[in-house]
Amino acid sequence: MKKIIMFFKKNMKAKKMILYRLLTYFPNRYQYARFGKGSLIYFPMLVNNKKCISIGENVTFRERLRMDAIKCMNDQYFTPRIIIEDNVHAEQDCQIFAANLVHIKKNVTLSSHVFITDAEHEYRGVEHESILKQKLIFGKTIIEEEAFIGIGVRIIKAVHIGKHAVIGANSVVTKDIPAYSVAVGNPAKVIRKYSHKMKQWENITSDAEEYYEISDRSF
Ligand SMILES: CC(C)(COP(=O)(O)OP(=O)(O)OC[C@H]1O[C@@H](n2cnc3c(N)ncnc32)[C@H](O)[C@@H]1OP(=O)(O)O)[C@@H](O)C(=O)NCCC(=O)NCCS
Repeated sequence: MKKIIMFFKKNMKAKKMILYRLLTYFPNRYQYARFGKGSLIYFPMLVNNKKCISIGENVTFRERLRMDAIKCMNDQYFTPRIIIEDNVHAEQDCQIFAANLVHIKKNVTLSSHVFITDAEHEYRGVEHESILKQKLIFGKTIIEEEAFIGIGVRIIKAVHIGKHAVIGANSVVTKDIPAYSVAVGNPAKVIRKYSHKMKQWENITSDAEEYYEISDRSF
C-alpha cells in the first residue's frame, strides 16, 4: 500500500490519468450509445447528442474535441449517427459533425485540427437572408481502417476514404479517396498509390487519378 501511495505521490501524470478515467468512464458509459473500455475524451470538450454517438474501445480524443450529432436545423430533422471504432486516436482541436452518418473505422489516426462532416449547407437559394437558413445536404462520410488524416485536414462533404489512405497536412477532401493511396492539396488529389502486385508505392500522374478513384470505390 505504501508503495502505491509513493508511486502516485511521485507520478503526477499517472495520478491525473486514473482520476480522469474514474471521473469520466461511468458517466460516459451511461450518456453515450456506447462507450468502450479504455476510451478517453479529454476535457475541455463540447459533445452534443451523445446517445447518437458510439465510441469503441481504446479510443482517445485529445483536448478541445467538438462533436455534434445534428438532430435538427431550421425545419429539417435528422437521425444522425457517429460511430468511432476501436483504437481511433485523435489529437487536439478536432471537429466532427454528422447529420446522417460519420463512421470512423478501426485504427484510424486523426491529427490535430481535423474537421470532418457528412453535410454541407445549400447556398443556391438567393431569396434567404442567411445561407444557414437553407437546407442541409447530407450523405455518409466513411473513413476506412488504418487511414491517416494529417494535421489541419478538412473533410468538407460526404466522402469515402479508403483503407490505409494517407491525407496530407492541410488538405481539403471533396471527393472519395481510394484505399492505399496518398492524397494531398486543396482539393485533395491522389499523388501516390500502393501496388499490391508490385509491392511498392507508385507515383500517380493527374491523368491516371480518375482511373484509381473509380475502380477502387468499395462501398
Ligand atoms: C502526405 C505526406 C505523407 C507525403 O509524404 P511523402 O510521401 O514523403 O511525400 P513528398 O514529400 O515526397 O511529396 C510529394 C509531393 O507532394 C507534395 N506534398 C506533400 N505533402 C503535401 C501536402 N500536405 N500538401 C500539398 N502538397 C504536398 C510535395 O510538395 C511533393 O510535390 P512535388 O512532387 O511537386 O515536389 C506528407 O507530406 C504529409 O503531409 N504528412 C502529414 C504530416 C502530419 O500531418 N503530421 C501530423 C503528425 S500527428
